[in-house]
Amino acid sequence: MQCEELAARLEEFPRRHFAYLPSNIEFLGNLTEILEGPRIFVKRDDQIGLGIGGNKTRKLEFLLGDALEQGKSKVVTFGGPQSNHARQTVAAARRVGLDPILFLFGEEPEEYTGNLLLDRLMGATIHFIPFESGAKRLEEAVRDMKSEALSFPDVSPQDSYLIPVGGESPVGLLGYVNAALEIHRQMETMGIELSHVVVAAGTGGTVAGLTAGFRLLGSGVKVIGVDVGALWKEFEPSIASSATATARQIDSEIEITVEDFLLVSGFVGDGYAVPSKEGVEAIRLLARHEGIFLDPVYTGKGMAGLIGLVRKGFFDRSDNVLFIHTGGVPALFAKGKEVLALL
Ligand SMILES: Cc1ncc(COP(=O)(O)O)c(C=O)c1O
Repeated sequence: MQCEELAARLEEFPRRHFAYLPSNIEFLGNLTEILEGPRIFVKRDDQIGLGIGGNKTRKLEFLLGDALEQGKSKVVTFGGPQSNHARQTVAAARRVGLDPILFLFGEEPEEYTGNLLLDRLMGATIHFIPFESGAKRLEEAVRDMKSEALSFPDVSPQDSYLIPVGGESPVGLLGYVNAALEIHRQMETMGIELSHVVVAAGTGGTVAGLTAGFRLLGSGVKVIGVDVGALWKEFEPSIASSATATARQIDSEIEITVEDFLLVSGFVGDGYAVPSKEGVEAIRLLARHEGIFLDPVYTGKGMAGLIGLVRKGFFDRSDNVLFIHTGGVPALFAKGKEVLALL
């Protein structure tokens, strides 16, 4: 499919514009030199505008477009207490006059820091829901959370638009189909042939949306997701089926398989949201050599994955690799002590 056709098909979906697009692409000359590897670029989805930015803003353009089209008055979503997705959902909801309601897994902390502080400043209704991670599969817990949310008096199917964890739905992922189109066009303008896009994978939605977008364009760019949580069973097949469901909104015949992207493991460290040695090394390198801040939960570990692949000789020196900075910097303030301990 040509760029113009994909752009026209995306125009058919309800959408609200929150982001400064296209987000910038910068060449990381110092990092490239230090690693003696491929040419590394960064796409600044962390500086996308609304509510300190991040990857969820792109998904929310389509999700809240859909919510408004359905005549909803409230937006309900889910996540950890430091969820970037929750923070960006609240910001977007406030922009368009919808009431934001959050269900956050865990106990209410004594101190409101990082994303939680921002949620509070924006006046979101926040419910804390204790989450027994070992008791059941995460997938089941997330599904139960939705029915639990619907049992609250301030949430009803009539007036509430429920957004899954991480905005991971075929409608939300159109935001990253659009990002693939944007990257394709930017690289064409820059006269650069891109070989790989690397991104942190949490729910895997960003990987799925990008893969769908590049496949729809018939592009050979390989999307690499760095698993930062090891949270999900059958992660790769579920990313492939999300990508297929997303792309089928545009091309009903397409089938996306696990061969269409790469998922890299080994960079979670001690667990999801626990700062890792390699992640903090990546944070330090980018801060000290490029003046760019990564976060300890997602982008630090994502960049650690990219660095690990370079050191393993995965890329050719002639490759052009684009890292997507998906945001998350508020978590740096919430986890400052742990990060400094590993610096
Ligand atoms: C900063 C940041 N980067 C990356 C991700 C991962 O994105 P996805 O859930 O689409 O895999 C998230 C999502 O939670 C995030 O907040």
